[in-house]
Amino acid sequence: MSMDNDEAHIALLPGDGIGPEVLEAARIVLDATADRFARLIRYTEGLIGGAAIDATGSALPQETIDACRSADAVLLGAVGGPKWDDPSADVRPEQGLLGLRATLGVFANLRPVKPYPCLAHTSPLRAERIAGVDLVVVRELTGGIYFGEKRRETINDEAQAIDVCRYSTSEIERIVRVAGDLARTRRGRVTSIDKANVLETSRLWRSVTSRVMASEYPDVQLEHMLVDSCAMRLIQTPADFDVIVTENMFGDILTDEAAVLSGSIGLLPSASLGASAPGKRPVGLYEPIHGSAPSIAGKQMANPVGSILSAALLLRHSLGWESEAHAIESAVHRAIIDGVVTVDLAGPGVAARSTTDVARHVAELVAASDSPGAMSGAAAGSAASV
Ligand code: IPM
Ligand code: MG
Repeated sequence: MSMDNDEAHIALLPGDGIGPEVLEAARIVLDATADRFARLIRYTEGLIGGAAIDATGSALPQETIDACRSADAVLLGAVGGPKWDDPSADVRPEQGLLGLRATLGVFANLRPVKPYPCLAHTSPLRAERIAGVDLVVVRELTGGIYFGEKRRETINDEAQAIDVCRYSTSEIERIVRVAGDLARTRRGRVTSIDKANVLETSRLWRSVTSRVMASEYPDVQLEHMLVDSCAMRLIQTPADFDVIVTENMFGDILTDEAAVLSGSIGLLPSASLGASAPGKRPVGLYEPIHGSAPSIAGKQMANPVGSILSAALLLRHSLGWESEAHAIESAVHRAIIDGVVTVDLAGPGVAARSTTDVARHVAELVAASDSPGAMSGAAAGSAASV
């Protein structure tokens, strides 16, 4: 794959719960985008999570790994559900997702949060607190407690459980550089989140972050913040944040919190990126940040926007198709302004649309969009993008 290629090969991993519905929605929009911009997108579908366990016994079959490795990028729905939730089970759907992140080496998970002003009424916070919020969480994705040793021990007839949290200097350096580079394209501020008053990994995190930022990013302003304080500040003064960089577990928790600032967790996309080898982009993994939402699965109620915007991030970061990504983001914004939204965003007097209806509307807007870079009206240039 070269950056200027007119063709792309995307691995689609629908997974469980609402995953298949939201991925189908993203595909409707991707197809319309390919048509509009005279590109060709080829897809390969793969099994992951509970669906893969049911079919093969493994949450991440080798065939899926091969399909992802041979694609330019991977678009994933969601994994998990009550059917596979037995805590004593050896195989769990989440192992598929974690295994895929590790296998692809996508250590940097970018989760942008930029609420649409027209949806301020759906946010749990007052409109004046939401005004001006435009932040990106850079979550370390392949290390820490998620990937440390896990085991059980029985001591004095009592069961104990152990999860090891480990971070190496180089793992911290590379994620901090992602945050520093990103901050340079934005407002030039990085807030590093840790628990340095308690955890040894956090003390290493803080010292490595200070050193890398001082020596390599003297033009970027760095602030350290404890994770509990960050949880509070995200609610009190969310507009103060620009780029947040943090370890895997804190990033998981804080991004759910940050996501609802925008009114619905169903809106938010994410991009997981690895290290570039010279002349070659690594295979990126793109997924909405919401989960599999089993209670609404198969009902066409799920918000497809997180998945559609993840597809836009895929086009931008893995293919370099900036105009296409922008067209999708603008179309999503337009659809929201038009009130074509799923039940989570339908306020009084706005009829909730189905997942597929929202996707079709977005696809039509993309198909009708102006020439690249000349999107018209209120949607121009204002959609969330990283
Ligand atoms: C996320 C999810 C996953 C995570 C789960 C499904 C393993 O919550 O992507 O935020 O914890 O990373
Ligand atoms: Mg999460």
